[in-house]
Amino acid sequence: METAEPDIIADLRAAGLVGDSDVVLEPLTGGVSCDVWKVETPTGPIVVKRPLEQLRVAAEWHAPVERGTSEVRWLRRARGVDPRIAPEVLAELPGHAFAMRFLPGCPVWKDELMAGRVDPAFAAQVGQGIAAVHDATAHNDRDRAAFPNDEMFRALRVDPFLLYVAQQDSELAPALTALADDLASRKIALVHGDVSPKNILVSGDGPVFLDAECAVYGDPAFDLAFCTTHLLLKAVRSDDARMNVAAGALVAAYRTGIGWEDADGLLLRAGKLTAALLLARVEGKSPAPYLTNPEHKRTVRDQARMLILAPQSIDALVANWKRTFQ
Ligand SMILES: Nc1ncnc2c1ncn2[C@@H]1O[C@H](COP(=O)(O)OP(=O)(O)O)[C@@H](O)[C@H]1O
Ligand SMILES: [Mg+2]
Repeated sequence: METAEPDIIADLRAAGLVGDSDVVLEPLTGGVSCDVWKVETPTGPIVVKRPLEQLRVAAEWHAPVERGTSEVRWLRRARGVDPRIAPEVLAELPGHAFAMRFLPGCPVWKDELMAGRVDPAFAAQVGQGIAAVHDATAHNDRDRAAFPNDEMFRALRVDPFLLYVAQQDSELAPALTALADDLASRKIALVHGDVSPKNILVSGDGPVFLDAECAVYGDPAFDLAFCTTHLLLKAVRSDDARMNVAAGALVAAYRTGIGWEDADGLLLRAGKLTAALLLARVEGKSPAPYLTNPEHKRTVRDQARMLILAPQSIDALVANWKRTFQ
C-alpha cells in the first residue's frame, strides 16, 4: 500500500482532482479487498478506492481488479435511477481505481444498528432504493451487457455462501445446490451484490449505497435476501424486536417496488436465499463477526436449517423469525 501511494497521488493530479500542493491520503478502512482513502481537495473531500490484486486474507479467493470498474458502473447506473442513492463518481483512475465524492456527516448504517438506533422508516427507504435500481434495470439488454460478471459473482457469492455450506451438510446439499443453480441461471436485473448495512451510509436524503464490487446482472431476490439476512442476524444478537420490525419494513417497501415480475415468485426465491445466507453466516466461510455467542448461533442455525428444508416466502420468514429459539 505504501509504495503505491505516490502513484495514486500522481493519478489524482493527472485527473485534475488535486493541485501541486501536498496531498494527504487518509486510510478509511482496513478493507481486505481494496485500499480506500479520504483525500482533501480544493473542491472538498473525496474518496479514492483501489481494488487489490490479491485479497489481504483468504488468498485462494480470486477477485479480478476489474471489479473496481463494475463498482463504478453500478454507482453511475444507480445515480441515473436516483442521484440520492449513490455517491458521485468523479474520475476513473489507472488500475481500476476511482474517485468519488465523500459524503460528510453520514454514519454507516451498521454502526447505527449496533448502537441500538433502529429506524424502520430508514429500513423501508433501503428497500425502496434497492427495488428502484432493480425496476429500472429489469429485462434491459444494455444493463445485462454492461455487467457480465457471472464468474466473479460465482466466486465471491455463490461458492462461499451457498455451495460451501452444501459441502458441509449432506442433508441440505440438494436444496442448496438447486438454489445455487437457480440463482446463477436468472438474468433479471442489475444486482448490487453486497447490500449490507456496513455498505450503506445514512444521509439526510435516505440511504446511500456503497461498495458495489460484486455487481452482476442476475436475480434481484439476492439483494433483498442479503440485506434482510443482516437485520435478522442482528435481531438475534441484540434480542431487539425493532430489528424484526425493520426487516419487515424493508421487505414490505421492496415489495411495493416490484414492477417487473410476479411479486410472489420473487419473494419465495428471496425467502430461500435468506435461509441459505443465514446459515452461511454461522457455518460458512464468511461468518458474521458479531455472532459469537453459541446460543445465538444455534438460534440462527436451527431456524435456517428448517427454512432451507421447508422454504417460506421472505415476508413470512421475517414475520416468523425468532430472536430466541428452543
Ligand atoms: N463516498 C463516501 N463517503 C463517505 N464515506 C465513505 C464513502 N465511500 C466509502 N466510505 C467509507 O469507507 C468505508 C469503506 O468503503 P467501501 O466502499 O465499503 O470499501 P470496502 O471494500 O473497504 O468495504 C465505508 O464503510 C465508509 O465508512
Ligand atoms: Mg464495504
